[in-house]
Amino acid sequence: MRASVLESFGDPSNLKYKEDYPEPKESELKDDEVLVNVAYSAVASGDWKARMGNVQLVYKMNLPRVIGIDFSGTVAAVGKAVKHVAVGDNVFGTQDNPKEQGTLAEKVVVPSKFVARLDPSVPLDQAGAIPTAALAADGGVQKLDYLKEGDKVLVIGGAGCVGACAVQMCLNRVGKAGLVIATGGSRNKEYLESLGATFVDYAGDERGEIERILGGSKVDAVFDSVGGSESYQLARTFMRKGGMCASAGGPIRNGGTTKVGGGTILKLFGGVMGWKLRSLFGGLKYHMVMGLSPETRLGVIADMMKGKKLEMRIDREFPLHEADKAHDRAQHGKLMGRVVVKVAK
Ligand SMILES: NC(=O)c1ccc[n+]([C@@H]2O[C@H](COP(=O)([O-])OP(=O)(O)OC[C@H]3O[C@@H](n4cnc5c(N)ncnc54)[C@H](OP(=O)(O)O)[C@@H]3O)[C@@H](O)[C@H]2O)c1
Repeated sequence: MRASVLESFGDPSNLKYKEDYPEPKESELKDDEVLVNVAYSAVASGDWKARMGNVQLVYKMNLPRVIGIDFSGTVAAVGKAVKHVAVGDNVFGTQDNPKEQGTLAEKVVVPSKFVARLDPSVPLDQAGAIPTAALAADGGVQKLDYLKEGDKVLVIGGAGCVGACAVQMCLNRVGKAGLVIATGGSRNKEYLESLGATFVDYAGDERGEIERILGGSKVDAVFDSVGGSESYQLARTFMRKGGMCASAGGPIRNGGTTKVGGGTILKLFGGVMGWKLRSLFGGLKYHMVMGLSPETRLGVIADMMKGKKLEMRIDREFPLHEADKAHDRAQHGKLMGRVVVKVAK
């Protein structure tokens, strides 16, 4: 089969396109596995960091390996115990086991709990682009489950893939009577407004603008997709007493770009623990999304997509033989949405 194989860690040119990569065999499918004909895979920051070898400490891969986590496609075969999807169904999900073959290949075998059925109306490019981003947003928004119609939310970094999912999920909760303020770059003003958010330019007078919009009131919750102490302070400034800040970014601003070592992990856990401790003494209530829950939440996300209550913006699509270019764009481009790889011909 056709596949993009990572031969050694480093720049995108280490991804090699193959037309004769060994195909997973239907006869070797375990009872709880699904064989998927992959339509689309996505390139998120986690993918290019894995390609660089930056996350070997937490996501140890042996090379050569087909990388790629998110996918959409159709079911080619199912194991004996699989009941929730059938051959021919459109599906999406995550292949997040670094020991197994990833999704930049025409076929992939995935544990059935990480696969969900899609309504045929859901575009496969969006479905392939969304899993990790939507799961991260959902992990945070679930912590904000007290939000009700008419409430106010601040989403820090609302135009990124995780942030835009959080904007839509929060809008679904607070309704037209509510308010979702989303910070982003000026090039994303129109996009954020089209989602129904109230835009604030992060490069302008961010605090002054939020203050003006709130008119002296506070927000009921904050979702942070950017991270770092700057986001924590912003959340603290505008949060009402008792409100929660859910963060996909955590203490490290923009996810960090360097190799994850012991120091990074200490900074991450130390930061989260410190902020959690402060909340015991009247500080901001803080939750960091750690560990996604595809097994229980992919179905919920599929339902949101079916009802067009959740959509994903595609930055650019590349064919499988240009997966290296897709990685380069995802790592170095000024993105407007997710970079996707069209795996199927
Ligand atoms: N905790 C988890 O389980 C989990 C899972 C997935 C992702 N993440 C993390 O979530 C973060 C976002 O991921 P993503 O896939 O959404 O990335 P993305 O699509 O690249 O989006 C990042 C967005 O942040 C914006 N941004 C940067 N600095 C900002 C600021 N000061 N204020 C407002 N917006 C700002 C960027 O805008 P410009 O382009 O205009 O600068 C961009 O729109 C990453 O750090 C990622 O590592 C965490």
